[in-house]
Amino acid sequence: MTLDIADLHEPVLLQEVLEFLSPEPGGVIVDATLGMGGHSQAILERFPEIAHLIGMDRDADALALASERLSPWREKITFFHANFSDLSDLVQAERLGPVDGVLMDLGISSFQIEKSGRGFSFRKDEPLDMRMNSSTSITAADLVNQLPEEKLQEILLYYGEERWAAKIAAAIGKIRKESPIITSRQLASLVEQAIPRRFHPKRIHPATKTFQAIRIAVNREFENLKKALTEIPEILKAGARFLVISFHSIEDRMIKQAFKEDERLNVLTKRPVTPSKSEVDLNPRSRSAKLRVAEKVT
Ligand SMILES: C[S@@+](CC[C@H](N)C(=O)[O-])C[C@H]1O[C@@H](n2cnc3c(N)ncnc32)[C@H](O)[C@@H]1O
Repeated sequence: MTLDIADLHEPVLLQEVLEFLSPEPGGVIVDATLGMGGHSQAILERFPEIAHLIGMDRDADALALASERLSPWREKITFFHANFSDLSDLVQAERLGPVDGVLMDLGISSFQIEKSGRGFSFRKDEPLDMRMNSSTSITAADLVNQLPEEKLQEILLYYGEERWAAKIAAAIGKIRKESPIITSRQLASLVEQAIPRRFHPKRIHPATKTFQAIRIAVNREFENLKKALTEIPEILKAGARFLVISFHSIEDRMIKQAFKEDERLNVLTKRPVTPSKSEVDLNPRSRSAKLRVAEKVT
C-alpha cells in the first residue's frame, strides 16, 4: 500500500486561509510551516497565477514528504529546511522578496504526533525526544532529566498553564534520582500518578499540558515566534497578507499584540477567526485553532 501524504495531516481553516490570501499574478507566497503541504497544495491549486511558492519547515522529514506531495508544481517551489525565525534573512539573502503573503500554521502536525517516533505523544512509548528539527542538540529527555526542579515547574506553569506544575516537577525530581526518564510512556504515567485522580481532566489526557509545555521549551517555540513576528513584515509588499494560525492562548496573545503594535501592519481580523462546528466535528484537532490576519500598509 502506498502512503497517502494527504492523510497524515488535515490542514485547518483552509477555506478561510484561501479567502484571506490575495496574491497578484506573478506573485510570491510563503508557507513558513509547510508540514504535510496541505495548505500549500490548496494555495497552488487556487492561485495558479502565482509565480513562486516558498515552502519552509524545520523538520526535514516533513519537508521530504511535502516535496513529494507537491512534485507537480516542482518548478514553482523553493524548499527551505529552516526555522521561520530566519525567514526574513533568507528571503532577503536569496533575493526572493518582497512577497505577497506569508502563512504560519504553528505547532506540530498530526504526522509528527502519530508517525515521527519522536515522543510527541503521551499515548506512545517512544524515546523522549520532541525535537522538530532532529539536528538541534537538546531533547525533551535532556530537559526532563537535567533541569532544576524549579525551572521545570516554571516551564509547566508558563508554557503548559498546568496547575499541578509543582507536584509534577517534584515527581520528576524524585523519579529521575532512581533512573533517568527516557520514554514518552514513562513521562506520561509519572504525570498521571502525580495529579490526584479526582482532578484528572475529563476531556484530555492528564499529561497533555506537560507534553505541550516540554515541546514548546525544547523547540523554543515562543522565542522563534517572537522573532518571526517582528521580522516578517520587512519582506511583505504593500497590500501583502500575513496570516498566523495558533493553538495556544499565549501564542494568540503574542500575535494579537505584535500585529496591533506594528505600524507597518493593518489588522484585518478584530477577533480571531475560528473553525466552524462542522470543521471541528470532522477534525477535532482544529478546535483550538485561531487565525489572525494583517495587511502590510506601506
Ligand atoms: C501544524 S503543522 C503545519 C501543517 C501544514 N499547514 C499542512 O497543511 O500540512 C506545523 C509545521 O510547522 C513546523 N514548524 C514549527 N515551528 C517551526 C519553525 N519555527 N520554523 C519552521 N517550521 C516550523 C513543524 O515542523 C510542522 O511541520
